[in-house]
Amino acid sequence: MEDQLNIRFPNLPTQLTPLIGREQEIRAVCSLLQRPEVRLVTLTGTGGVGKTRLGLQVATGLLNDFTDGICFVPLAPINDPELVVPTIAQALGIKEAGDRPLVDLLPTYLQNKRLLLLLDNFEQVAAAATRLSDLLTGSPQLKIMVTSRAVLHIRAEHEFPVPPLALPDLTHLPESEVLSQYAAVALFLQCAKTARPNFQSTPANTRAIAEICVHLDGLPLAIELAAARIKLL
Ligand SMILES: Nc1ncnc2c1ncn2[C@@H]1O[C@H](COP(=O)(O)OP(=O)(O)OP(=O)(O)O)[C@@H](O)[C@H]1O
Ligand SMILES: [Mg+2]
Repeated sequence: MEDQLNIRFPNLPTQLTPLIGREQEIRAVCSLLQRPEVRLVTLTGTGGVGKTRLGLQVATGLLNDFTDGICFVPLAPINDPELVVPTIAQALGIKEAGDRPLVDLLPTYLQNKRLLLLLDNFEQVAAAATRLSDLLTGSPQLKIMVTSRAVLHIRAEHEFPVPPLALPDLTHLPESEVLSQYAAVALFLQCAKTARPNFQSTPANTRAIAEICVHLDGLPLAIELAAARIKLL
């Protein structure tokens, strides 16, 4: 079975935009996953807060820690919890052998692997959480990072709530150069420049952008959508 598989190279999707901020969160989640007793970390938060983006960055930073690879498993397309184990097996490239179903092959394959699974959008299949406990029990070196809008409520879980991007205080707005160092404002400026290449930041528009970011609660998805509208102005 070993030879059919090629996960020495991870299958993490490439991001087309630069990551803004998150230095502290990346450090915190990396060190959590590096602790020997931590087997499962759930990045929680509202839709669009940046769970997937953070998870992918953390995974990239941990490539050297997992000698058997890191496997990204998108679960957004499924909503049947029964499909979670087969979907993980497929992502790992495990093929059905004879009459042994993927559900049986996966624990055998994972048994001695030093591997990190990144399970994305687990809220879709929350009822499969106990399957993850079973996989962790049977594979002592396996670790799992989950992104989910809700906690899984299993014993092994360490929750890491993903906060919104850093925002300035509207009542004491600093100078525009300082404002653009806040991750939320920096993301807006970067998206605005992509949407309209001749976009110039000025003290006045940076201040207005900071206010928009605060009203959008520092949510990266909302900031991206708002900044894209710069094109229309
Ligand atoms: N730190 C960041 N720097 C740059 N872009 C970011 C950052 N965080 C998030 N984004 C962008 O914001 C959007 C939303 O982020 P992401 O998809 O990670 O959210 P999510 O919490 O996983 O949402 P969902 O619950 O819908 O899966 C994406 O386009 C992502 O690339
Ligand atoms: Mg996501």
